[in-house]
Amino acid sequence: MPKRNDNTINGNFKGRNILSLDQFDLPSLDLLFKTADNLKAIAIDAKPSDILKGTITTLLFFEPSSRTFGSFSTAIKQLGGQTLEIQDPQTVSSVAKGETLEDTIRTFQSYTHAIVMRHPEKGAVQIAASVADIPVINAGDGTGEHPTQALLDMYTIYETCGRLDNLTILCAGDMLNGRTVHSLIRGLSLYKNNTIYLLSPKSLKLTRDDFKNFSQRGIILVEIESEKDIPKYADVWYWTRVQKERFKDLSEYEKVKTRFTVTKELMNTYAKKDMILMHPLPRVGEIHEEIDSDPRSVYLSKEMRNGKYIRMALMALTLGRI
Ligand code: CP
Repeated sequence: MPKRNDNTINGNFKGRNILSLDQFDLPSLDLLFKTADNLKAIAIDAKPSDILKGTITTLLFFEPSSRTFGSFSTAIKQLGGQTLEIQDPQTVSSVAKGETLEDTIRTFQSYTHAIVMRHPEKGAVQIAASVADIPVINAGDGTGEHPTQALLDMYTIYETCGRLDNLTILCAGDMLNGRTVHSLIRGLSLYKNNTIYLLSPKSLKLTRDDFKNFSQRGIILVEIESEKDIPKYADVWYWTRVQKERFKDLSEYEKVKTRFTVTKELMNTYAKKDMILMHPLPRVGEIHEEIDSDPRSVYLSKEMRNGKYIRMALMALTLGRI
């Protein structure tokens, strides 16, 4: 399959790398969401499908994962495709003998039709894509981006709020290291009149370069450091985990790990009745379990399930089967 460049998708996913939300435009998002709408019944009703029959996708995960790995794996199988699953290649593949990332990619592209890759280093998935002649999908590159998470998050917001513009969103937690937020801001910048409040400890703000770059896209970003500055009219709360694995000094992590926590009291004080509470997960204490049964909580239900539907759509489109 000829591979196209990594610029804007412009409604044609076939053969493309999916590396960043910067590649997306409104027609492409519309197509992806409509495709997910159409395919989800295959999963819900356990209908046989041969949309991906004959294809094999490598899942190459250099970092741990439950949701991204599990949803890609089952999305592909649900559509009749197969997977070559390599979790922890540092231990189980020839990476352990010193093989380079580039040669690892050249190897697996010889056997399969697409590579879904997660890696601890920002930019590593882009390097993989530069040597591959099959589609490479970014499943999270260090502190860089997590585009497929942002796509499922935007799909969830659209499904629940009925729009992706004119929204007030509160993002809380680790803005510095949280790759899901980095992709989500890029995605929501494509729509008009969105404002994002960024609640984090001072040490976990966006880099100044990212703040400047994102602000130039037309989205309004407001940095806050205290719960008392949370706007009571926010449509979405997007809570995130402080990313322990990115800290060199764990004593610094201990100081901030649960600085911002969702409790019943916080919800009662600042959350409006028809907002939604999201989290890419895993959570490690920053949303109390008592919140799980609140009807506004979607992180353990709709948000997680949508991961599979969006990844079904993405694989079907990228492998040119729809
Ligand atoms: N949201 C997310 O990326 O979760 P996993 O790390 O479990 O894949």
